[in-house]
Amino acid sequence: MKQFNHNTLRKALAAVCLAACATATAGTQSLQVLHWWKSASERKAVDLIAQRLGEQDVGWHDGVVPSGSGVGAGIVLRSRMLAKDAPEVAQLNGIVIRDWAQLNLLQELDAVAIAGNWNKLLLPAVASTIEYDGHVYAAPLGVHRINTLFYNRKLLQRLNLPVPATWPEFERVAARLQQAGIVPLAQSSEPWQVATLFETIVLAEGADLYRNLFRQRDAAAYADPRLARALGRLRAIKRWMGSPIRERKWDDSVRELVGNRAAMMVMGDWAKGELVTQGMAVERDFGCAAAPGTERYHLFNVDTLSMLGTHPELRAAQEKLAALVLTPSLQVDYNAIKGSIPVLRNAGHMKMDACARASWKLFNSGAEAQVLSLVHRMSTDETVRDAIVAEVHRYFLDDSVTAADTQRRLAAIARTSTKTR
Ligand code: GAL
Repeated sequence: MKQFNHNTLRKALAAVCLAACATATAGTQSLQVLHWWKSASERKAVDLIAQRLGEQDVGWHDGVVPSGSGVGAGIVLRSRMLAKDAPEVAQLNGIVIRDWAQLNLLQELDAVAIAGNWNKLLLPAVASTIEYDGHVYAAPLGVHRINTLFYNRKLLQRLNLPVPATWPEFERVAARLQQAGIVPLAQSSEPWQVATLFETIVLAEGADLYRNLFRQRDAAAYADPRLARALGRLRAIKRWMGSPIRERKWDDSVRELVGNRAAMMVMGDWAKGELVTQGMAVERDFGCAAAPGTERYHLFNVDTLSMLGTHPELRAAQEKLAALVLTPSLQVDYNAIKGSIPVLRNAGHMKMDACARASWKLFNSGAEAQVLSLVHRMSTDETVRDAIVAEVHRYFLDDSVTAADTQRRLAAIARTSTKTR
């Protein structure tokens, strides 16, 4: 009888515990986060945010849509919105924030921004990318420099080659590397990666041209001989990319540098995060320089998280995440993994490697140096960006398409698209 009572008690206690546990689970809020970070370093950076958020009793329900530069993630997000199945958090970045805020699809984060004093803490160029109509619509994680040339130190040293500072110098260095059986430039034929290289080549022709083409979208600028030269350059350097030029993920190109098969790569500095995660050390094994001809400019984008307004009961959890993103310790640790620089004004004294220090210094030198990236969603809306990327890609793949023809087609895109800003 005694035994029976004990068992009953144990069972009863277990039942109570089960109920309590269920309540606890239900009480622990979790946010679905849609993003496109899939490479080893990106994963590490995401895990860090998820872990810090977990320490504040908010779960991170990961919704990764692997797609370099976020093309696929954007499609998935739009269809989920239409199906009324939106995640609570999404990586949007750049102009998309403004476009979605206009449509009333994002939660404003004004309370968090005011409580956290964001207008004092944030770098002004970052603040303007997350605001629309006087409200804050995203939590910024870091600033990436797109016009970066990564080089394998050992390979250049072995052949006693300089780090090319201009495109003609790049040609000379590349020829020597190729003679030695090394692929001079690791490059994929994936559309956004070709366009990322192209936008740095255009930048070498001058920030005024870049801004006229991709920001003002001045149709006359498309007839500029400097654009013809940039297109010619893109085609000419195909011969330094190994053969065939494969459509591979950007982190696979990083692997070429790590494996000493390729000597250089032009890519946003998320590639630095990946080089480090794949085992190379900044300065010792690889270096970062400006992409040829662009040392005066910081072509940039800002990674951000926006909150979607689907579940009012998760508002507090969303605000916790937004506040967490701006904490100095998250900023330092996250950006060290990701390859970007912190978004905080006083981050200058924070622990940074040589690449980050150079990026930081230039970015903070003022508006003249800062150039908004077309391909990484900072300077035009998605439709125009996608159309330009497609044209550049077609020109890159098909040698029978002329530069003049491409200039005309790009001008037509500029002429016929709505200018939203
Ligand atoms: C960029 C983004 C980076 C990185 C990269 C490659 O647009 O800002 O954080 O993820 O795409 O996917």
